[in-house]
Amino acid sequence: MRLTEYVHLCLEKHLNNGDYVLDATAGNGYDTLKAAQLVQPDGRVTAIDIQKDALQATEEKLTQAKLNTLCELHLGSHGELLERLNQTFDAVLFNLGYLPGSDKMVITTPKETLSALNQSPKLLKATGILCVTAYRQHPGGQEEADQVAEWMREKQTQGWSVEKIEPNHTSDYLSPLLWIASKGTLSIPSFANRDI
Ligand SMILES: C[S@@+](CC[C@H](N)C(=O)[O-])C[C@H]1O[C@@H](n2cnc3c(N)ncnc32)[C@H](O)[C@@H]1O
Repeated sequence: MRLTEYVHLCLEKHLNNGDYVLDATAGNGYDTLKAAQLVQPDGRVTAIDIQKDALQATEEKLTQAKLNTLCELHLGSHGELLERLNQTFDAVLFNLGYLPGSDKMVITTPKETLSALNQSPKLLKATGILCVTAYRQHPGGQEEADQVAEWMREKQTQGWSVEKIEPNHTSDYLSPLLWIASKGTLSIPSFANRDI
């Protein structure tokens, strides 16, 4: 099972009609669409991306599924935009790295990612889940993953529940890493098939 599929499985277990979701890296819109499907018809999804093309792809998917009215899309960096949000969410999602299918020139950076992660606690409901997927194959990816790991360790020392999922990888392929965290107790499905 791919980590992206596993995140969707966790969202299926966690989200209900009427819930609020923040997708901090909208990309091609797969996570935003999944969240909108799970919280419809009364919930809301806020999605952010720094690239216009990403928000356009996301908008198209939502429109096709007739779920665009549930979603607010914001163009800009999560490092800055999260500071301006003043509501709480049942799930906050980060799927780091670059936009699949793009020229890979725009990638998430440790500085902006950490700035956004530091805003997340105040945006997360007491029972909410924070999902962060980090990729390590591209330049800068391992450094970003290390910083996320450190951030998660700190949250654990503050009493958060944190699960780290690290699928098996080969010597020439570093698998992506996933952290799922909550201020309260975590109840997530097991990641049974650890190969990707
Ligand atoms: C791996 S993709 C996300 C995939 C997406 N969640 C999906 O379901 O298709 C990572 C996205 O992060 C975006 N990104 C990079 N830096 C960003 C930033 N500072 N703020 C917001 N988005 C950013 C990229 O433009 C890219 O679209």
